[in-house]
Amino acid sequence: MKGILLAGGAGSRLYPLTLVASKQLQPIYDKPMVYYPLTTLIEGGIREICLISTPHDLPRYRQLLGDGSGLGVSFDYREQSRPEGIAQAFRIAESFIGSDPVTLILGDNIFYGGDVFHQAFSQFCAGAMIFGYRVHDPERYGVVEFDSAGQALSIVEKPREPRSNYAVPGLYLYDNSIVEIARNLKPSPRGELEITDVNSEYLRRGQLRVQKLSRGFAWLDAGTSSSLHEASAFVQTIEKRQGIKVGCPEEAAFRRGFLSLKTLDDLAAAMPRCEYREYLVAVAEEARRSS
Ligand code: TTP
Repeated sequence: MKGILLAGGAGSRLYPLTLVASKQLQPIYDKPMVYYPLTTLIEGGIREICLISTPHDLPRYRQLLGDGSGLGVSFDYREQSRPEGIAQAFRIAESFIGSDPVTLILGDNIFYGGDVFHQAFSQFCAGAMIFGYRVHDPERYGVVEFDSAGQALSIVEKPREPRSNYAVPGLYLYDNSIVEIARNLKPSPRGELEITDVNSEYLRRGQLRVQKLSRGFAWLDAGTSSSLHEASAFVQTIEKRQGIKVGCPEEAAFRRGFLSLKTLDDLAAAMPRCEYREYLVAVAEEARRSS
């Protein structure tokens, strides 16, 4: 499975912060936002990643993340010249996807807890798989309606009267028919290629699975100033309490076996003296002790 990390968009709700840097480069507590979805992909075992952003911001991502070899992954960078919808990502990344299945993660979505995506990526074989997450304000999202047997009946984008409390988080898995589905999409009344239209098409074909995420799982999006602040507070709480880092791609790559212990040592040694470096040194020491 390949991965697309979508980190473009207008970021208008975060203005004037987005005058300084793109939304997905804003800090979530102690690291840039993009580290979190990137870590989710790496934890899930995905090594080939296409990062899409605006022509203005793409050079910053290249500078930050390089070609990926330091993390044992590869990055392919592509421009989205205008924010014409999440599903446009599949047109932009068509040659990257080739004949493979693909997962798309939104650059401002933060997931925490469990192994659910790794399992989903490794077991995925056909059709589409998306997730449902219980929220108190479903009208802000795509909302799934379920029948009494738990089968998805419909998905509606930002409904005025939501038919359930289950929102669709920004992580989606598709088989290779996504390429053809994306090619044939028409812009919605708001002028965007909608991810909800992609999911509805798979649903129409009887090929959509919606898995509910359990209540112990955390999904945050960081698209507004308050949710940015809340996400930072959440990460700080977990990190302080447990002494672990959330959204640390170097650690995820090491634990997934993409990096050797020696490479992890080298990555840490190349960093300035800081808490992040100390953390990676501690991860390496712990691994050495238990080996
Ligand atoms: P949104 O938060 O829906 O849009 P936005 O980032 O443009 O923000 P705002 O509404 O404040 O102007 O986008 C969700 C994610 O998808 C976010 O990470 C940006 C990304 N995105 C793109 O990269 N390109 C697009 O065309 C769209 C619509 C979103």
